[in-house]
Amino acid sequence: MFRRYWHPVCLSSEVEGPDCDPVEVTLLGEDLVGFKDTDGRLGLLDARCPHRGTALSYGRNEEGGLRCINHGWKFTVTGECVDTPAEPEESTLKSKVCARSYPCEERGGIVWAYMGPPGTSPAFPEFVWTTIPSEYTFVSKWLQESNYYNAIDGATDSHVAILHSFLKDQDRTAARGEQLAPLLFQDQRPVVFTETTDVGLMIATRRSVGGDRYLWRIAQFYFPYFIQMASAGHSNFWVPIDDEHCWNYCVSWRLDRPFAEWEKAQMGTVGIHVRNTIAGTAIPVANRSNRWLQDRTKQRMFNFSGIDQIPLQDAAVQCTMRAPRDGTTIPDRTREHLASSDVGSIETRARMLGAVKAFEDGLSPPGVGDSRGYRRCGAQVILARDESWLEWAKEHLGPDQVPITIGHKWTAPMIM
Ligand code: FES
Ligand SMILES: [Fe+2]
Repeated sequence: MFRRYWHPVCLSSEVEGPDCDPVEVTLLGEDLVGFKDTDGRLGLLDARCPHRGTALSYGRNEEGGLRCINHGWKFTVTGECVDTPAEPEESTLKSKVCARSYPCEERGGIVWAYMGPPGTSPAFPEFVWTTIPSEYTFVSKWLQESNYYNAIDGATDSHVAILHSFLKDQDRTAARGEQLAPLLFQDQRPVVFTETTDVGLMIATRRSVGGDRYLWRIAQFYFPYFIQMASAGHSNFWVPIDDEHCWNYCVSWRLDRPFAEWEKAQMGTVGIHVRNTIAGTAIPVANRSNRWLQDRTKQRMFNFSGIDQIPLQDAAVQCTMRAPRDGTTIPDRTREHLASSDVGSIETRARMLGAVKAFEDGLSPPGVGDSRGYRRCGAQVILARDESWLEWAKEHLGPDQVPITIGHKWTAPMIM
C-alpha cells in the first residue's frame, strides 16, 4: 500500500546542482541511488549496477547520466543504459539492459519519489509548506533507530505534559518560550477526541485551563506517516528505511515572512530539529547507544526525562519500545495496556489497519491523489466549554483555510 504514495528520498541540499555527487538511500527496504544529471533532472535508480552489482553511488555523474566505476556502463535518470564502453563497438547489449528507476519531484526542499506501479503516479500531496517559497521553510532530517510506526504511535498519543515537562514553573516558561506553553502543563490529564478525514485523522486534545474555557490542540495525521502538529508551523514525518530504521524529517514553516538567520541558527538547539549529529552521519550525538545522554541530575533538578530537546525525548521513548529479548524495534503490542492517553494512537492504528484491509480488497489508499486534502492544518485554540471543537475545526482547518495557530491569526511557529 505504501508504494501508492509519494515518499521523501533526501533533502534537496543533498543533490544540489547538476552532476552532483550521487547519494545512497534506502527506502521501504530498497537500496537506491539518487542524483541530478547534467540538465538538473532528478534520478533515483536501483543502487546496484545491472551489470554485476557494483554500487552505483561510487559512480561518475557526468554528461547526462551515472556511470558505474567498474566497467563504465552508464545510465540515465530513467534507467536507460546508454553506454557499455568495455563491450565491442558493435554490441547492442545496452539496448537490452536498464536499471530500475523511479520518478522524482522536488518540493518544499525535499526530493520525493513515486515507487508504485509505473504509470500510476498520483497528484502530489499539497502540504502548505510545499507551496510556499523556500525562504519560508526550514527542513532537516535525522536517522531514528526504530520502526517508523513507533514514531507514529509516539506522535499520536498524548504525552506532552509529562514527557516534555519541566519540574519548575519558571523553567517551563523560559525553556519553551512560547505563548501557550504554561497552559499545556496545567492539566496533565487531557481528554482526546478524533475525527476521520479524507486523508487521515484529526486528533484533538482538550485541556482545562480554568474558568469556563478549554485549550484545544488539534493535530493531523495524514497517510501514510505525516503529522501536522498542533503548532501550525511544524510538521514531522517518519519515512521507513527498513523495519529497524526511519528518517525523521522535520519541517518548520511560516507564512508571514522568511525565516531570519537567527531563527535558522536556533533551530536544532530548540524546537523540533536535531542538528547535533555524529560527523559524517545523520545519527544524533545523543542516541540509543549512549541512552540519549540522559542526565540523572538534570532529571532530579530540571526536567522530567533528564534528556535534552523535545525530539530526542520523543526518540528515546519511541526507540526503547522494543520487543523483549529479540531486540527488534517492533514492539510486542499484545503486551500493552492501552489507556485514555492513547486514544489518538488507538484510532490512528484503526485507521491504518482499515486502510490496509480496504487496499487488499482493491480500494485506493486514503489520500492518494487527494492533493488538496493535505492542506489541512493544525491549531491551538481556546474555546468556551460549550463550544464544539469539531465545528470550530470544520470552519477553520479545512483544506481551503489559511493556516492558523492561536485563535484566528497566524503567529510565529510554536513548539508542540
Ligand atoms: S558492474 Fe557496473 S559496469 Fe560492470
Ligand atoms: Fe513528543
